[in-house]
Amino acid sequence: MSFKLLVVYQSRDGGVQKVVDAFTCGVALAAEQGTCKIDVEIRHPLDTEASDVIAAHALVLATPEHFGSMAGATKHFFEEIWYACLDETVGKPWQLIVKAGTDGTGAIQSVERLAKGLQWAQFRPPLHVIGDITETDTNNAIELGASLAASIELGLV
Ligand SMILES: Cc1cc2nc3c(=O)[nH]c(=O)nc-3n(C[C@H](O)[C@H](O)[C@H](O)COP(=O)(O)O)c2cc1C
Repeated sequence: MSFKLLVVYQSRDGGVQKVVDAFTCGVALAAEQGTCKIDVEIRHPLDTEASDVIAAHALVLATPEHFGSMAGATKHFFEEIWYACLDETVGKPWQLIVKAGTDGTGAIQSVERLAKGLQWAQFRPPLHVIGDITETDTNNAIELGASLAASIELGLV
C-alpha cells in the first residue's frame, strides 16, 4: 500500500527548510521500518493546487511567521485552494510547523483558524520553533515525522 504525504512549505532564509528536512528525515526513518510506502511530495505553496491537497493522504504545512501571521505564500495557498477543498478535504489529517524569530503564535493561530474552517484533523499540536534551531528542535522534528509515518502505517490517521 502506498500513501502520499504532501509537505507544503516556504522558507526565505532557510530556517523552515531545516526543520522540514529534519521532519522528512523522521518520516523516511520510520517508513524504512514499515511495510507501507509513504511518498513524500514537497511543494512550495505557490506551486500547490487544491487537487494536490485532495489527492494527499495527509498534509504538512510549514511556514515562518511574517508580521504576526502565516507568511504570504502560505496565505495565498489557502486563498487558492479554499473553495475547491471546502467539501472535498473534510477530516484530512494535517500537521503544522511554524518557525519564528521571537514569537510564532500569530502564525499558528492564523493557520489553525483556516484549517478548522476546512474541518481538517490536526495530527499533533504545532511544532513551534523560536529563534536559533537547537538540537532539541531538530530531534522534535525527526520524532514528529517518524510518529506521523508510523501512525499512517498503523492506519491511525
Ligand atoms: C518580513 C519578515 C517578517 C517577520 N515577522 C516576524 C514576526 O512577526 N514574528 C516573529 O517571531 N518573527 C518574524 N520574522 C522572523 C522569521 O519568522 C524567522 O526569521 C523565521 O525563522 C524565518 O524563517 P525562514 O528562515 O525559513 O525564512 C519575520 C521575518 C521576516 C523576513
